[in-house]
Amino acid sequence: MHHPLSLLIAASAVATSLAFLSPPSSLQETLHSSSEIDLSALQNGDKGAELYAQWCASCHGLNGRDFIQRTWKLGSQQADIERIIRNGYALLGMPAYGQLFSPDEIKDLSNYLLAKAGESPNFRASPPQLIQASDLQLRANVIASNLGTPWGMDFLNDSTLFFTEREGRLWVMKSGVKQAIAGIPDDIHVKGQGGLLDVMVWNDDAQRRPWIYLTYSKNHPDDIKLSATAVVRGELLVTDEGFSVPHWETLMVAGPYAKTHRHYGSRLAMGQDGMLYVTCGERGMRDVHPQTLTTAPGKVHRLHPDGSVPNDNPFVDEPGAIASIWSWGHRNPQGMFVHPETGEVWTHEHGPKGGDEINILQKSANYGWPEITFGRNYSGTIITRDTAKTGMEQPLHYWLPSIGACGMDIVLGRGWPRSWQNNLLVGSLSFEYLERLVIDASGRVTDREQLLNGVGRVRDIARNSNGDIYVAVEGAGTIFHLEPILEN
Ligand code: HEC
Repeated sequence: MHHPLSLLIAASAVATSLAFLSPPSSLQETLHSSSEIDLSALQNGDKGAELYAQWCASCHGLNGRDFIQRTWKLGSQQADIERIIRNGYALLGMPAYGQLFSPDEIKDLSNYLLAKAGESPNFRASPPQLIQASDLQLRANVIASNLGTPWGMDFLNDSTLFFTEREGRLWVMKSGVKQAIAGIPDDIHVKGQGGLLDVMVWNDDAQRRPWIYLTYSKNHPDDIKLSATAVVRGELLVTDEGFSVPHWETLMVAGPYAKTHRHYGSRLAMGQDGMLYVTCGERGMRDVHPQTLTTAPGKVHRLHPDGSVPNDNPFVDEPGAIASIWSWGHRNPQGMFVHPETGEVWTHEHGPKGGDEINILQKSANYGWPEITFGRNYSGTIITRDTAKTGMEQPLHYWLPSIGACGMDIVLGRGWPRSWQNNLLVGSLSFEYLERLVIDASGRVTDREQLLNGVGRVRDIARNSNGDIYVAVEGAGTIFHLEPILEN
């Protein structure tokens, strides 16, 4: 067996970086050097136990303790355990040992862990949740659980995920350790559809500084019955104590404030033009906001990263218009991503009964709500018979019946088979599944498939730079990593 020094360092570096983030107590108790272990006391010939003591005990506890009463996240069948030892799992903080150990040594280790797990009388080896799509099998790895309403997610890098809970909590998970970011705005209106909503990480390459952007429903300063969608940002500091955002500045309040607790939007994305895009819902006031340029709700806004208004925005010279408006006539857009190849800004919005729609945003375009729609009132009565008008855009796709669309991203990257490249993934709140949409070269939706049926209200979808897909589900309170199974 060869133990290249570089790998030794890599594993201990992970262990040290875990330490400063005050790991959960089970890990904390076991974060001591494996040199304390008396190797001679081990049963002679128990290769798995020896390897474990030397390489794993520092994080997972002596004598396989972590695995005796474990809630397994990534599957507990032999093949799952071997895969994890081989490949590691960066976001959870598990190093990869595929370069270090031979297949036989990995088998010895997995046998040892299974023997330990078997000491719990109720242990039954089981795979992670598997999803059968028409042309692919996927694993749904559990990254975080016991959450309230996870609403937004974004990656700082492949081992560091930021996410919100609508109840008013901002989290960062780095190498398996979850840390709350303290000191977020204290005027969050947690009611109805309101609360802490989206999070976006933006690396300011020029300044070499990472920023955290948030959207939330903000209390009116003098009357907490009123709220409005707001955007704030703060510089992210990374120190030995962990992550912090010492100061938040408000970039936008999408006034006027209103009494309703619905249709806040609000997704954030950084365009390839270096501009920040923000979606704002019409606050349930369809006859007031979407068709005027004088108010902020029911619009998508475009700002410089510091919140100032770009002078090439479409309505900067229009008297009375809100200068940050990029597009209008929106209902409640809760999904947005920037296409990595074309730079297009894709959104979807939650329609009334029927009429959820996907749009590719065009400068100054009016998406028609409520003058034209494929939807009806929830009571079934007619909103308008018009589905088209001059000067108003047609959606790329609409859903009838409406799925309650929330969250959207595109599948791209080497980890995915060709039939999945450029597919969209969209969450369904109403029917509690993840929808896959196949789009042909001309931009038409040619196929739809339901995944994760019955999982819970799917809130958000995020992609890291590897193309890995993460799905946040409310109700289940879980974040899943969807991993295509391409072996064999
Ligand atoms: C630097 C610390 C560290 C070391 C060293 C380490 N692990 Fe892990 N390992 C983790 C963390 C953190 C997780 C994720 C645990 C979680 O999120 O509950 C993990 C997860 C796992 C899992 C998946 C468990 C599941 O719930 O599905 C297996 C299997 C595993 N480790 C085996 C090993 C083996 C075998 C070794 C030694 C060769 C080892 N680990 C060494 C930190 C470590």
